[in-house]
Amino acid sequence: MIKLSPSILTSDFANLGAQLREIEEAGAQMLHLDVMDGSFVPSISIGLPVIRSIRRVSGLMFDVHLMILEPERYVEEFREAGADLITVHAEACTDLKKTIEKIHACGAKAGVSVKPATPVEDIFPILDQVELVLVMTVEPGFGGQAYLESCTEKIRVLRREILRRGLYVDIEVDGGIKKDTTLPVVLEAGANVIVGGTAIVNGNIRENTEGFLEVFRRF
Ligand code: DX5
Ligand code: ZN
Repeated sequence: MIKLSPSILTSDFANLGAQLREIEEAGAQMLHLDVMDGSFVPSISIGLPVIRSIRRVSGLMFDVHLMILEPERYVEEFREAGADLITVHAEACTDLKKTIEKIHACGAKAGVSVKPATPVEDIFPILDQVELVLVMTVEPGFGGQAYLESCTEKIRVLRREILRRGLYVDIEVDGGIKKDTTLPVVLEAGANVIVGGTAIVNGNIRENTEGFLEVFRRF
């Protein structure tokens, strides 16, 4: 099943509650929450207090994308704040396997992400230990960037490997996904969890969401 995970990174935080309702009512299944520390990526975004607050008003599956160094330090806290899925960057972990075990131990689903320059083959050794692989299709750090074409092949290679090994692992893509151009490309390549940032939250959320879901039905 193909799922939409809107990212609120570029949303109007003064109206977050209303925007979350729109996202949920429009039919998105997940909510993508971008956590940045100013070290692993140049910018700083939201963290635990915001996730805790919105957990009380949203029934969506919380897909927490940790763009922070040594994320193992905060796994339990993000779980307690309401994360259902915790995705860490392979490049940010001192011991990736242990970090994944820690995520599972607190009852969350585990995801591992790779930046555009990191070969997807790097995470093949732990592929059977995660529920999701997040293939970054822009350099992490900011919303509204252009999709990097070089990432399409990584999605294809990963989907082939998952099928070859008979695994059930979701492939999430994040960055520069637009309804008419890059969305069909990533779906064709084998992605099944789609992050939409500016293409969903900037403008009419309901229309944007419905537009994405309409394209999903063609795949
Ligand atoms: C970027 C974040 C993304 C971002 C995507 O580092 O991980 O989730 O919000 O925004 P768009 O879809 O506008 O590229
Ligand atoms: Zn993200």
